[in-house]
Amino acid sequence: MSKMNELMARGTELLGSDYAILCGAMSWVSERHLVSAISNAGGFGVIACGAMTPALLDTEIAATKALATKPFGVNLITMHPQLFELIDVCAKHGVGHVVLAGGLPPKGSLEAIKASGAKVICFAPTLAMGKKLVRSGVDALVIEGMEAGGHIGPVSTSVLAQEILPTLADEVPVFVAGGIGRGEAIAAYLEMGASGVQLGTRFVCATESIAHPNFKKAFMRASAREAVASVQIDPRLPVIPVRALKNAGTEAFTAKQREVANKLDKGEVDMMQAQLEIEHYWAGALRRAVIDGDVENGSLMAGQSVGMVSEEESVAAIVASLVQQAEAALQARG
Ligand SMILES: Cc1cc2nc3c(=O)[nH]c(=O)nc-3n(C[C@H](O)[C@H](O)[C@H](O)COP(=O)(O)O)c2cc1C
Repeated sequence: MSKMNELMARGTELLGSDYAILCGAMSWVSERHLVSAISNAGGFGVIACGAMTPALLDTEIAATKALATKPFGVNLITMHPQLFELIDVCAKHGVGHVVLAGGLPPKGSLEAIKASGAKVICFAPTLAMGKKLVRSGVDALVIEGMEAGGHIGPVSTSVLAQEILPTLADEVPVFVAGGIGRGEAIAAYLEMGASGVQLGTRFVCATESIAHPNFKKAFMRASAREAVASVQIDPRLPVIPVRALKNAGTEAFTAKQREVANKLDKGEVDMMQAQLEIEHYWAGALRRAVIDGDVENGSLMAGQSVGMVSEEESVAAIVASLVQQAEAALQARG
């Protein structure tokens, strides 16, 4: 067994994959084709449920099962109003792994997932939250730094890894995400105690990804410094920052925040509705770019590792080069 496989053993055992390399769920991008390709290449694919209805998720899982020969997971957003119906859909299909994203799991959700026999993976934004999640019975954690694409927290991957791995890596497998573009970085996090990693941006331009050619072109052209975090313009309306490539859509989001903040002022919406409106805005804007190819006005969610994406390659080729780089790095250390 290679050094890398040894360090990933707890991760691969939990996931049932060859490598503990997850492709994190990406709304509109992580559908049947990319997810099955990742799992079939030895990684672990995760369907992005996003705002899908239970019926749509049902169809997507069935279609993915038809293409995948290896296990894959489903990512559910805790804010989804039909979260428990979505959990039932996963259970019906015998989905082995549910990833809960977007905040604290609501009461009863962990129990409902575990009752179906599935493993639960949650995001730990801080050490305290990670400890709490472990106590409540999660099977694994993802720690995601602010280098990542999409919705982000305030802390970098390297700091989260130093804060969380020494304490929690012995308790449950921990997967490190955010800013990983090459295998040398995977090797480093494994040596620090991670059981695996999660990448998103690096897989967007895979041949099997259905992202629009314009979306992929924008990724291949961009450098790390162009993937910037959105700015909160109104102190009364806290918005979760989103990292994306700068375009006209970035400006449009500023206008959107003003519009929602005004509605909040006039009492037309409460804080919860205001935040949901912002989230719906992102889902629509991302669809516009990923599916319709409108890379000017849509949202080009991307992590800083976008600078390391320079061509369209098969999922198998991407996984193979990540593995080769990680193994070479570990071997060079002797
Ligand atoms: C276009 C895009 C869409 C994303 N959508 C989601 C999502 O719906 N749910 C989620 O939990 N994470 C989402 N993410 C985050 C990824 O799952 C993953 O954790 C992240 O991309 C890892 O960091 P990296 O981009 O630096 O590799 C998204 C990321 C990107 C780039």
